[in-house]
This record gives sequence, structure tokens and C-alpha cells, in this order.
Amino acid sequence: MIGFEDFFNHIGKNRLAPFATTLKETLSNRYQPALHGDYRSWQEHFQLLPEVSACAVDVARDCISIGTQQDLTEEQHQKLLIGLRGLHPWRKGPFQLFGHTIETEWRSDWKWQRVLPHIKPLADRFVLDIGCGSGYHCWRMLGEQAKFVLGIDPSPKFVFQFQAVKKYIPHAPVYYLPLRAEDLPKPMQAFDTVFSMGVLYHRKSPFDHLEELKSALRPGGELVLETLVVPGDENTVLLPADRYAQMRNVWFIGSALATQRWVQRAGFRQVRIVDEAQTTTAEQHSTAWMTFNSLADFLDSNDPNKTLEGYPAPRRAIIVAEKPGKSLKVGTI
Ligand SMILES: C[S@@+](CC[C@H](N)C(=O)[O-])C[C@H]1O[C@@H](n2cnc3c(N)ncnc32)[C@H](O)[C@@H]1O
Repeated sequence: MIGFEDFFNHIGKNRLAPFATTLKETLSNRYQPALHGDYRSWQEHFQLLPEVSACAVDVARDCISIGTQQDLTEEQHQKLLIGLRGLHPWRKGPFQLFGHTIETEWRSDWKWQRVLPHIKPLADRFVLDIGCGSGYHCWRMLGEQAKFVLGIDPSPKFVFQFQAVKKYIPHAPVYYLPLRAEDLPKPMQAFDTVFSMGVLYHRKSPFDHLEELKSALRPGGELVLETLVVPGDENTVLLPADRYAQMRNVWFIGSALATQRWVQRAGFRQVRIVDEAQTTTAEQHSTAWMTFNSLADFLDSNDPNKTLEGYPAPRRAIIVAEKPGKSLKVGTI
């Protein structure tokens, strides 16, 4: 039911066209959501979302807003709520749909507020958001007038969360493909800005990931890297013995200075640490829309500066850098 025809129709006319065949092949190999036990349930809940011919949309505010309460009948409101709740857990947001606020686990708007002042204006740019989750930041990128936004994330559930919003903004040049960074054709050299937020430490080889980011960028393009860091100097790196803050899939966490050095060694220039802060339980917490355990449950109850495993509590840095090469004119197709 959820296809990617719109994406392929759109890129047929732009600079991603040369990659269409490869991307189609990769998707058909990678994306087999029906194998996921919850797929039928997600599909059924998604189908409950009401059809609305047109509604007001605002993606340039902290809580992405679709429609108003008056747009729906009482029955449609009920179906909307059942449909959206069936796509639990909602981790990245917040969103407001027809008057109902989805309070997500993360205040993703806070991250965006930390990122936005430090990056080149997104107006007219082709933007890639790797590991985009529900796509919250993709919408914020559109709100900054990006010309084209592609989010990728391997989680099949997030496809439905993204489409629950896209359903009401069907013509927006914002697309989502259920792919991993490793799946992108190399080199693409197609994007003016590439975001990798919350992904680096999930990769066994941070350098492979940095190479992927470089390969997706046009010469002169901008990298926006947001990642977990630990306190320390340029030689400090944590490799957890097993879990980190209860996450099983965490590999290398460098200090901000070490991560900056990795980015430099990966061949980027003008590498700046523009923000660093410890994550608070106000920014990441359980809500009615994400009822599982969250940050407070993953910290040592006697020392909130430590994880349950005894490691430094999560802190995150934002690093901005440029891919070497002469910048092409932004806005070209
Ligand atoms: C911590 S979340 C970050 C989400 C969002 N970028 C943000 O900053 O709020 C990490 C996301 O990266 C995705 N992810 C993990 N490994 C990935 C990979 N190899 N390629 C692309 N995305 C990946 C996960 O599915 C998850 O949605």
C-alpha cells in the first residue's frame, strides 16, 4: 500500500535521476516489511487515518501542525486517534494533527533549535537526512525552504509514521525511503547538505559512515553531524563492553574533540564543534505516545551523571563541516 512511486516520479526530473535504477533495486531487496510481525497492524491502523481534501499545514514551527479540529467529524477524530495510537511508539516529534498533540519521547524541536543557527541556510538546497526516524526534522528542513528533502531510515514502522504526516502534505518535495546509509549508491555527490543525527555511534565503523556522508555530498556541500559524545580530550573514546544506556547497538562514542578529529581525518574541512550538551530527562522521556522506558530509567538512580552501566550519561555534540571542492550553485536541478 505504501509505495515509493511519487519519489521516483519526482527524481526523474532532477539530479537524483541517474540513481533511480539502483535505488529501486536496493529497495526491492531491502524493504520487505510484510516479514515484520506488526506490519498488518500498522497497515490497518494507517488505513484508519481520515481522508481530507485539503487542510492548513505549518511545518515551520516547533510542533508540526496539520489541519484543525474543525476539519474532521467526531467519527473521523475517533478513527484518527485509534490509527495514530496504533503506530506507537512515537519517538521523534512533536506533531499536532487536527488538534491532537502527539507528545513524542523526544523534543526533537530542541535539537533543531541547537542545530539551525549553525548551518548554512537550507533554502533551495537538496538535503539528505540519514537516520531520520519519523521524519520530524525532514519537515523542519522543508520549513526552512529546502528544495528537496530525502530522509532515509531502515525502520519499517517509521515509514508509516512519516506517511501519516505526508498523507496530508502529499505534494511536498519531502520523501522517505526505508534504507540504511550503507545502501545509498556511491558516490552520489548529489546533496548540498547531509544530516546524520544520532547515527554515528550505531555504526561499527564510524569511518565507513563518515565516508558514506562524504560520498552523498556535492563538492563544497555541508555535513551536519550530531552524535553522542563522552567528556574528554581528542584521545578519549568509549567502546561499551555491552550495552550503553540500555541500548544494545552502540559502538564507538568519542569525545567531541575526538569526533572532530575523525571528521577531519575522513577528509572534511572547516570542522567545527558548534554545540555540546548533556541530554536531559526533559528532552527525552516517556509520554502517553511512547509508553516504554526512557532516559530516566537508563540512568543510575544515585547518580544521574552516569548510565545504569556506569558510563558517562548521554551527552551530544553537533559538528558542522564542509566537503572539499568547489561549491556548485545551490538550487540547480
Ligand atoms: C537516535 S535515532 C535519531 C533520529 C533522528 N535523526 C534524530 O536525531 O532525532 C537513530 C535513527 O537512526 C536509524 N539508523 C540506525 N542505523 C542506521 C543506518 N545504518 N542507516 C540509517 N539510519 C540508521 C535508526 O533506525 C533510528 O531511527
